[in-house]
Amino acid sequence: MDEAKLHEFMGKLVGDMGGAAMMASVIVGEELGFYRAMADGVAVTSDELAKRTQCNPRLVREWLSAQAASGYVEHTDGKFQLPPEQAMALAHEDSPVFVAGGAVVLASMFLDKDKVVAAFRGNGGLAWGDHHPCMFSGTERFFRPGYRANLVSSWLPALEGVVPKLEQGAKVADVGCGHGASTVVMAQAYPNSRFFGFDLHKASVETAKQRATDAGVADRVQFAEAAAKAYPHHDYDLVCFFDCLHDMGDPIGAARHAFAALKPGGTVLLVEPFANDRLEQNLNPVGRMFYAASTFVCTPNSLSQEVGLGLGAQAGEARLRAVFLEAGFQRFRRAAETPFNLVLEARK
Ligand SMILES: C[S@@+](CC[C@H](N)C(=O)[O-])C[C@H]1O[C@@H](n2cnc3c(N)ncnc32)[C@H](O)[C@@H]1O
Repeated sequence: MDEAKLHEFMGKLVGDMGGAAMMASVIVGEELGFYRAMADGVAVTSDELAKRTQCNPRLVREWLSAQAASGYVEHTDGKFQLPPEQAMALAHEDSPVFVAGGAVVLASMFLDKDKVVAAFRGNGGLAWGDHHPCMFSGTERFFRPGYRANLVSSWLPALEGVVPKLEQGAKVADVGCGHGASTVVMAQAYPNSRFFGFDLHKASVETAKQRATDAGVADRVQFAEAAAKAYPHHDYDLVCFFDCLHDMGDPIGAARHAFAALKPGGTVLLVEPFANDRLEQNLNPVGRMFYAASTFVCTPNSLSQEVGLGLGAQAGEARLRAVFLEAGFQRFRRAAETPFNLVLEARK
């Protein structure tokens, strides 16, 4: 036994346990509006923050102390300040790096622990809709900042000839749309186009309808409960899969349906979590987060469905390409990427 290595590993574990505890602290702070109340960057005492948010002063002091110990807020002379960089990640919902909203996905992993244990002991399946509801809203809030920041400004323009079609008036399917975050972003940008969001999960489809109404785009967006292999119509210009293809039991069947649903010359936009092709290349902070979430959510959902391919959230471009080539597509390429996203294009 190498004592130095043991100390090093214990240090890492203490860091990870603190990180896990802090995600619970972030969820509470977000819900209670602490970050938003500090977003002006003015240093406050814990009593001032308690007063601003009408919360218990002693608990607010303890929460702020944990935040300061983590470097989320700064502490000087009894006052606490949220720096502008931290405010972007924790307070501003419209910021491209806002993570506080999505942290609640981690809560669902703990809340659904018994179901996941049962899946391990059984056939591996746990359907998306059987998770705690905070999974659905957390997923929406986790992915939406990336869609708002990238979809219209860089991902769609990276596709061959798609933006002119959207500007003129295209027909778009958003498959596995969840709460419709991506559908609404596209509908806001392209008022001449029509958007059809499909998802297996009834409750998500209902929320998506509400989101379209709230955003004032319900006239050009329709949402319906439908599986990726069974949604209607056959004349789409663009079929999108946002962070959902790997969740599906039969991604090849879903890609085949997309092929049939596209007009000649149509395009698939496939957005997937960033991953390299081999496990060794994904042993990094992004891979760690996605593999862990995939163990609890993506892979069990895939195993709960027909075929049960279980691609996992770190499938990588080569496996995704194989899915699309097997489905009949002849052209497949990486159109763009971010540290968190692979943006892939398949052409009919
Ligand atoms: C990780 S969520 C992504 C939701 C949404 N695209 C987003 O980016 O916010 C995966 C979604 O795929 C849906 N889904 C999983 N399997 C499906 C299938 N076979 N057909 C249609 N939707 C499916 C789930 O219900 C869930 O809403």
